[in-house]
This record gives sequence, structure tokens and C-alpha cells, in this order.
Amino acid sequence: MNWPKESRIRTNYPLKNNSTFRIGGCAQFFCEPKDTAELKLLIKIAGQNKLPVFILGAGSNLVISDKGVRGLVIKLGSPYFKRISLEKGNIRVGSGAALAQLIKFSRDKSLQGAEFLSGIPGTAGGGLAMNAGCWGSVMGNLVKEAEVMDKGGRIKNLKRSQIKFVYRKSSLAKYIILSSLLSLKQGKAREIEKNIKKYLGERRKSQDLTWPNAGCIFKNPENNSAGRLIELCGLKGRHVGGAYISERHANFILNKGNASAKDVLRLMRITGKQVKDKFKLLLEPEIKIWK
Ligand code: EPU
Repeated sequence: MNWPKESRIRTNYPLKNNSTFRIGGCAQFFCEPKDTAELKLLIKIAGQNKLPVFILGAGSNLVISDKGVRGLVIKLGSPYFKRISLEKGNIRVGSGAALAQLIKFSRDKSLQGAEFLSGIPGTAGGGLAMNAGCWGSVMGNLVKEAEVMDKGGRIKNLKRSQIKFVYRKSSLAKYIILSSLLSLKQGKAREIEKNIKKYLGERRKSQDLTWPNAGCIFKNPENNSAGRLIELCGLKGRHVGGAYISERHANFILNKGNASAKDVLRLMRITGKQVKDKFKLLLEPEIKIWK
């Protein structure tokens, strides 16, 4: 493969520690480009060699196959992609920046409205690709513009009206999201801090963060709760290998040791079948599966 010499391409790179589930094999190729020019070049070479490209955020909503992935895994983890700055009263956030950093920045600038994202272990890009949300708000609501790269390496600036956000889905997912411009309200730092603490407390109360996990496994069916339905099937505590359905929140699967992707997927299939048989409802996975 004719990768540019200056790109530090790694072959057979272990991905396990790049997923909050701590599950998964190796990436055939892995790279953290330093800027958009390098990203564009990598995309081009991958295209010429018919290699699939995977964009890795914080790996917090992801199950990676035990066999790993064939193709190029790109992590936007260099300082360039993690920049956060003020732009005419709005916040410009790079895709690779952690949501926690975004919240800290907005608090420091007394900008209010992103606190609901507190405790989500994702990146700004990942949060937008899947329109992350909780406590009745979604990330898409904050977006004014998004800067993206298409599969041909062209950069576009999309206005809010050109982007579609629905429950846990966004039209941005077909692009590589580079950065976004978020519109927040002027607020008071003390109040913002209070909100952050409140949301973190709520999350600790209802969710199960005791073992490596990927957040909610299934989307909620309309006007229903996947966690409640799974609990009603009596599945709390059910396990396949090292993958366990949480006793606290049934829409969480915990990796209590050496769970494999195979274990998780099998447990998901069992769960989906039982919910379908009992309630005639189809559970759609919220997590992404890389095979
Ligand atoms: N419930 C049960 N049993 C359970 C879990 C929940 O009966 O095992 C009940 C709860 O008692 C509550 C209802 O189901 O009455 C809803 O539960 P919860 O408030 O925990 O919210 P959720 O619908 O399970 C959603 C999002 C979360 C988000 C929270 C808070 C989805 C799939 N999940 O969870 O997002 O943090 O609301 O707003 O939309 C994620 O996307 O990864 C995620 C964790």
C-alpha cells in the first residue's frame, strides 16, 4: 500500500482499548491524521485501493468484531481535530474533541445549553453523527453549521437547514464530520455548573457504569423504553460468556471480564427475540457494529 511516508500508519493495530466496551480485534490499518489535508490524502488512497474507511470517535457506542476490521480506521485524535474556540459568540468544536471538553469550555465562557450532554463519554463528532441525546434534548438542536468531508475528499459547510436530525440519527453520518458550529445562550457559570452536577447525578442514579459498556444497546421503541421491556422479559442478569445484562438498567450490557463481540451480539439476539415474542416489538440496535 502506498501510504504517504509522513503518515504514521499502523498495521494490525489493536482497537480494544479504543472502545469503551474494551472489546474487539485489530484494525488492518490505523491512522490519526494531523489535519484535513492529510485526512483527504488518506481517504483518496483508501479509495484507490478499495479499502473501507471507518471513523473512530471515542468508541463509546460501538462493538468491534473479535476478528477486527479490514480497512483503514481513522481517529480524529490529533490536536487539530480537537480544537474548540469562540466564533462570533458561537462555539466551533472539532470532531475529535471530547464532549466533556466542550462542556468545560462552554462553562468557562458562561455559555449555557450543552450541560445535558454531561457524562456522555463521546466526542463532538460522534455525538453529532448519531444525534446523541438525553433528558429530553438532543445534540442536533445546538447545531448552526457543520463542516464535513465527503467520500471524494471535498470539504462542505452545511447550514442547519441542510442537515436532518432525528432520534439517534443524522444525515451528517454519511460524511466525515470535521467540526461544527454550536449556538448556545449566554448564561451564568454558577448555574451552568449546577446543571452539570445535576445531570451527572441523574446519570449515576439510573445507569450502570460499574463495568465497561457502550451505553444503551437498543433504541427506545416509540413511546416505550427498551430497558423496561427487557426487564419485563426477566432478562436482568442474563449473560453470555462475559457479557451481562445489567441488573440496574436492562438496556446496558456490561463486559464483566473477557466478553467477546460474539458474546455481546448473541446476548443482543436473545434479548431482541424475547422482546419480539412477548411484546411484538422490534428492538433496533443503537450501538454501531463493526465487522
Ligand atoms: N426502566 C425500567 N427498567 C430498566 C431501565 C429503565 O423499568 O432496566 C424504566 C425507568 O424506570 C424509566 C424508563 O424505563 O421509567 C426510562 O428509563 P431511563 O430514564 O433510564 O431512560 P432510558 O429511556 O432507558 C434514555 C436514553 C439514554 C439517556 C436517558 C436519559 C435511549 C435508548 N436511551 O434512556 O441514552 O441517557 O434516556 O435521558 O434513548 C444512550 O443513548 O446510550 C443512553 C444511555
